[in-house]
Amino acid sequence: MIKFDYRGVKADIIGDIHGLNIEEEFNNYKDKISEIITDLNQRKNNPDQWLQWMNLGYNEETAWYVKEYASMVEGRFENLLILGIGGSALGGLAMTEALLKPYWNFLTPEQRENYPRIFFLDNIDPDSVSGLLDILDLKKTLVNVITKSGSTVETMAQYMILKDRLEQELGDDYRKNIVATTDKQTGILRQLADQEGYKTFVIPDDVGGRFSVFSAVGLLPLALVGINIDEVIQGIKDMDLLLKNTDIYNNIAAQNALIHYLLNTKKGKNISVMMPYSSRLNYIPDWYIHLWAESLGKEIDNDGNIVNVGQTPLKAIGATDQYSQMQLYNEGPNDKIINFIKVAEFDNNLEIPNIFEYTGIGYLGGKTVNNLLDAEADSTKVTLSNNSRPTVTITLPKIDGYHIAQLLYMLEIQTAIAGELYNINTFNQEGVEQAKNYTYALMGRAGYEESASEIQDKMLMV
Ligand code: PA5
Repeated sequence: MIKFDYRGVKADIIGDIHGLNIEEEFNNYKDKISEIITDLNQRKNNPDQWLQWMNLGYNEETAWYVKEYASMVEGRFENLLILGIGGSALGGLAMTEALLKPYWNFLTPEQRENYPRIFFLDNIDPDSVSGLLDILDLKKTLVNVITKSGSTVETMAQYMILKDRLEQELGDDYRKNIVATTDKQTGILRQLADQEGYKTFVIPDDVGGRFSVFSAVGLLPLALVGINIDEVIQGIKDMDLLLKNTDIYNNIAAQNALIHYLLNTKKGKNISVMMPYSSRLNYIPDWYIHLWAESLGKEIDNDGNIVNVGQTPLKAIGATDQYSQMQLYNEGPNDKIINFIKVAEFDNNLEIPNIFEYTGIGYLGGKTVNNLLDAEADSTKVTLSNNSRPTVTITLPKIDGYHIAQLLYMLEIQTAIAGELYNINTFNQEGVEQAKNYTYALMGRAGYEESASEIQDKMLMV
């Protein structure tokens, strides 16, 4: 199982001003946390609670259909192209980057065991979209268009471009190159997919985008590139069992939720940095940023009070960002908690050769890059602690589907518990709706005429 270490936030280590008296706080919040966990588990099957993601590890039917389709198309496509944005892209991106061999798209088909290369289009930059279309042989490309609402403008624009190009190249056969992941009955994509006869996968009711990684949204891309999704599912289930424990002393998601909440509300830590010491975990912070920001950044609490809560999540990669952000973290405002993510055992043990023995770099010879990365994480953590900066550390025994699933599921539960502590609605995102509506208005979508004149006036002012 993954491990969680909170010693770096303790007041007796980093001082009373910035640290927490953990035992006292755990005792103060013991009952509250137990209530929250019990309540989440009781409500998870109720409609409109947006907690169905807590059941995804047990959705054997989806896993079965995903595996069946993946084995049906195995060997048929050179490329897998994911169209989606936000929760419809970030989970798949974070997991495939972590679990596939590094530089996957540069490997030969034999090295990839004939599984496809994978590309995510989660932006609508005209140059990068055109550039990607220039290099993909569309006849050999499977397009997985993913959107829960079925209408997200960026995803729909990409889908329209791809559908048109595929049809031009493949004629009527183009349908076999599109698979849609969307709601079971509502939304424009559902309507089009049924009309056009695409293979489809369902995003279950009451599963929001940022909590959808373990639905077909994430599982299908993983299975299509040959990742063992049974391992992933086992990781979620085992973690779920652990996180059902209502005792804060035995629940690592509850511990980190409470630590973040208290550091934010009592100690002014307005920023939560996620810093994995691994390039393969490069996109895990991006996924976390979406989860933490959109779930907890809220104007109004559940009682209708204006609260404007939320921590700003940031990304740093170890060791790289020691050379860009660490100066600020050590000496700038003491307004952050840093979440280190460490890997106990990498797939490779890379030795530094014993050369240049009599020079200033000779001491490195015979050590491993693994030793070096570990030493860097430990020194950075101790330095932050010397400067009274709070840190926690999550350690993955290794990078595999089982442990990555545990990490993501832990962070989802952590977010849900934190939302309850802040007493806000974790699962809505009204703050992004206005800009979406203005975009529809500017692009001439029917029904948005009023927003169009409003934004046109305001655009002259800002
Ligand atoms: O977390 C969310 O629900 C959102 O951020 C969505 O993931 C994002 O808006 C994309 O939505 P959709 O999947 O409907 O295209």
